[in-house]
Amino acid sequence: MRKIQRTAPILIFSMVLCFSITGYSQTRVPDVHFEPTPEATVITMLQKAGVNQNDVVYDLGCGDGRFVILAAKKFGARGVGVDIDPVRIKESKENARKANVTDRTTFIEGDLFNVDIREATVVTLYLLNELNQQLRPKLFQELKPGSRIVSYTFDMADWEPDEMVQVGGRFFYYWVLPATVGGTWYFRSVSFRGELQDQLILNQEFQEIRGKVTVHGQEIRIRDQRLKGDQLSFSARYNFEGQNVSMKFNGRVTGDTIDGTVEIQGGPWAGTKPWKAQRVKQ
Ligand SMILES: C[S@@+](CC[C@H](N)C(=O)[O-])C[C@H]1O[C@@H](n2cnc3c(N)ncnc32)[C@H](O)[C@@H]1O
Repeated sequence: MRKIQRTAPILIFSMVLCFSITGYSQTRVPDVHFEPTPEATVITMLQKAGVNQNDVVYDLGCGDGRFVILAAKKFGARGVGVDIDPVRIKESKENARKANVTDRTTFIEGDLFNVDIREATVVTLYLLNELNQQLRPKLFQELKPGSRIVSYTFDMADWEPDEMVQVGGRFFYYWVLPATVGGTWYFRSVSFRGELQDQLILNQEFQEIRGKVTVHGQEIRIRDQRLKGDQLSFSARYNFEGQNVSMKFNGRVTGDTIDGTVEIQGGPWAGTKPWKAQRVKQ
């Protein structure tokens, strides 16, 4: 007992010393250790995401800062790197200085799950499958529809990527964050009896959508549907008094409104017309 009392302070002192020497003075240890994405792959991933000077690129778990630095240097973007490890943040800042991009890069020491990412238009990741899954709700909550996400090696479980690219014997995954379009929408169309209120019902699972539209009292399954960020398009075909009518809807989703056009071929209302739909129920 007396031996424990004498050794305890020495043990605590050595632990504190060890943590400060290794730089682990942060609140918690990293969820995944540092391993850099090969530089050529970083460039391919940024190209896939179409990074340009209008973008704000966030690398969550930025390591030595390479994603953010290359996004600024080669693509003219602004970049923010977040890492929980102060050693990595120091290294990132030093690398940004050497690359002459300190004016367009910021490095934040902190937990990627707690950092506000609302201004990001592109998010880059090299974490783990389970961390990507934990991060998914935050991405949907904070990013705007149309934001792009690229992840090296790890996917997002049942959120299928828009593209999967093989590079240097490994894969990376690319997603465009879809707008929320599920629910019941109303829109107006013309008929011989004046204006009608038509209905669109959409079921959504991430960027995958299915649904039906009611036009002139006919319920039609939508086809060729596509949701890319906030851009929604689909077509519907039906028969009006013996004539085949084909409609192509295109619009931009903003909250509970879709603004766009409908292109009608065949039937008495052929032509391109404005199309505005309002969501009444999610
Ligand atoms: C595999 S490395 C990727 C580094 C860089 N993104 C790249 O691709 O070259 C993962 C990084 O995430 C950091 N990290 C782990 N958990 C974290 C957390 N909860 N918050 C912030 N950074 C974290 C680690 O310190 C490490 O630098």
